[in-house]
Amino acid sequence: MDTQKLVDQFRSNFPILQSSVYRKPLVYLDSAATAQKPLQVIEYEKSLYTTYNANIHRGVHYLSEQMTAIYEQARQRVARFIGAKSASEVIFTSGATASLNLVAYSWSEAFLRAGDVVLVSQMEHHSNIVPWQMAAARRGAVVRAIPITDSGEIDIEAYERMLQYGVKMVAITQASNTLGTRPDLKTMITLAHKHGAKVTVDGCQGVVHGGVDVVELDCDFYVFSGHKLYGPTGIGVLYGKSELLEAMPPYMGGGDMVDKVTFERTTYAPLPLKFEAGTANFVGAATMAAAIDFLEDYSALMEYENTLLSYATEQLQSIAGLKIYGTAPSKSPVVCFNVEGCNHYDIGMILDKMGVAIRTGHHCAQPVMDRFSVTGMCRASFAMYNTMSEVDALVSGVDRAVKMLR
Ligand code: ALA
Repeated sequence: MDTQKLVDQFRSNFPILQSSVYRKPLVYLDSAATAQKPLQVIEYEKSLYTTYNANIHRGVHYLSEQMTAIYEQARQRVARFIGAKSASEVIFTSGATASLNLVAYSWSEAFLRAGDVVLVSQMEHHSNIVPWQMAAARRGAVVRAIPITDSGEIDIEAYERMLQYGVKMVAITQASNTLGTRPDLKTMITLAHKHGAKVTVDGCQGVVHGGVDVVELDCDFYVFSGHKLYGPTGIGVLYGKSELLEAMPPYMGGGDMVDKVTFERTTYAPLPLKFEAGTANFVGAATMAAAIDFLEDYSALMEYENTLLSYATEQLQSIAGLKIYGTAPSKSPVVCFNVEGCNHYDIGMILDKMGVAIRTGHHCAQPVMDRFSVTGMCRASFAMYNTMSEVDALVSGVDRAVKMLR
């Protein structure tokens, strides 16, 4: 099937994309914030509630056993999707932020000592900065930022130098949510390991645009959310190497994460349940697995996202005074920009009235804004359901907005 037919077929699965806002056809360019959901995934979630709903790991009854099996199959599916050696290395959480807080807290309790260093890059989302700052404060460690260049890439020489001073953890994104940069993770991880540091990769913006193989990458931890993967909100994943997860204390206490509870001594369940206290989002996990099936059926469209990005980049640059932030090669499909003399928020508001949904502001990446000396940026982010004519709508919308604002 040719690409255009495949895009049309993919797009036709998303009911919301047929809708209008302010009587204009919706042009949804905010998939980096959350992706829209295909009907198959929505229907599958509904079918779980109408057919199998019962709490997992608890009942001897039919529905509980069925739902438990579906939940554990979802874990296997995720393990296959990311290339994990074992499903027990896959922990379900409420989202990538929860996953990062879990690893920052629990790994640090076991391994981070006073004076140790955690490196985070200057392009991280707040979720991959603040939990490490909180952990460092608790443990008497320090967080240092790996600088980025004017094109929005990791300054790899600075990184290598920084690794020589007591670094125990490197926390790095697979793809920046603002600059789109995909750091050379393989090199960064090899260097980190050479210096005895572990690596946590934030896969939120990366996994949906090309996947991951955690074994090949050799990262120690990897996190992502379901909702950016055409799946539901409130579900996410923490992958960790089993020897590290085994050595880490639980993050939250409660039901399902214990082996035996007495007032004298409580022992914990083996992996992965040690990290899954309370009723898990079992419907979310199973629905995320369905979204992964759906996504993998269309993997042939990954390259198309790059076409959208190149076209948008080229067209936007034709607007006088427009500056794009993040010009690394092989970016993920996001483009952040500002236009001289116009406020990012005003551009976003005007575009909205034309039916074009973009994100404006600091994108939960204030250090990136500081690096480029701005208070915010406009961001258009693309998914496989977007079309070239939607890019045209963005560009002509920005052009009109700029004319109104100047
Ligand atoms: N982290 C999401 C974004 O970049 C919400 O928009």
